[in-house]
Amino acid sequence: MPIPEALKGRLKAPVIAAPMFLTSGPDLVVETCNAGLLGTFPALNQRTSDGFREWIRAIRGRLAPDAAPFGVNLIVHKSNPRLEADLAICIEERVPLIITSLGAVPELVAAVHGYGGLVFHDVVNARHARKAAEAGVDGIIAVAAGAGGHAGTLSPFALVSEIRSFFAGTVILSGAMNRGHEVAAARMMGADLAYLGTRFLATEEAMVPEAQKRMVADSTAADIVYTPKVSGIPASFLRQSLATAGIDPEGGASPHLDMESEAKVWRDVWSAGQGVGGIGDIPGAGDLCRRLIDEYQAAVAACAAEARTEGWL
Ligand SMILES: Cc1cc2nc3c(=O)[nH]c(=O)nc-3n(C[C@H](O)[C@H](O)[C@H](O)COP(=O)(O)O)c2cc1C
Repeated sequence: MPIPEALKGRLKAPVIAAPMFLTSGPDLVVETCNAGLLGTFPALNQRTSDGFREWIRAIRGRLAPDAAPFGVNLIVHKSNPRLEADLAICIEERVPLIITSLGAVPELVAAVHGYGGLVFHDVVNARHARKAAEAGVDGIIAVAAGAGGHAGTLSPFALVSEIRSFFAGTVILSGAMNRGHEVAAARMMGADLAYLGTRFLATEEAMVPEAQKRMVADSTAADIVYTPKVSGIPASFLRQSLATAGIDPEGGASPHLDMESEAKVWRDVWSAGQGVGGIGDIPGAGDLCRRLIDEYQAAVAACAAEARTEGWL
């Protein structure tokens, strides 16, 4: 299965720390990449395009020579007034991986390919995956049921196999993975790379309040509510934070917020995925990555050993 040439030999395990609004910044990216996994952040986590460029340069300055590549998430939608400026900066700074959300645009893909960069695009269904494939992206991120943020509703098995049936590029699975053996399982079921968000929320470097990290570490899947009642687009939230913000996920009409208003709401209402039940600590991101790498290697070795013993190999 295809790991892009540009990533071959650059990752210590097939893991991307997913971009998270108000959460991922230079410290999380640097710790992740220096530990050998691909770190990312949304451009909009910096208040201005100039600040965004400074972050990219600061990250580059702190990466070890053998660090994994990093990536930036761009919201490709007319409601994002910074798209043009932020994309121009990504091109000038030759950001290794661009992760696009909402719009998959051939011109953007061509511009990024022009300097040798990669484009991954996130989707929640096969229809959007087909559009991304037509736009020429290198990878499609299959956001399955139970993911943090704007999750999908489809089983990861259903979504990955359907995308695989028409897309020959890299498939990245997103949703509810925390441990190395879960990453191994994602690859066994047809994905090339695993995309972990919520697990990285509960790290020292995540730029969120300590109370949010604690809530992630203390919650179970039953505490996650998937609702459009916060912004109009269904997303996964911690039930307790909805209650604190006075939002009733069962009652009332769904608002239709523009990007700016949605951004404000996300400060008070905390998103997390169903994987919270498998998270119990708040480690440094580097330690978390090293643990993931060890777990992944152990899972692959155990699987191969058992297959040999059973005569399946
Ligand atoms: C707090 C939070 C913020 C997020 N913000 C973004 C974002 O700005 N852009 C984006 O493409 N995905 C965003 N996501 C989704 C993640 O990139 C990723 O798809 C998801 O977290 C993976 O599922 P998991 O949380 O179950 O690991 C966010 C997720 C969370 C939990």
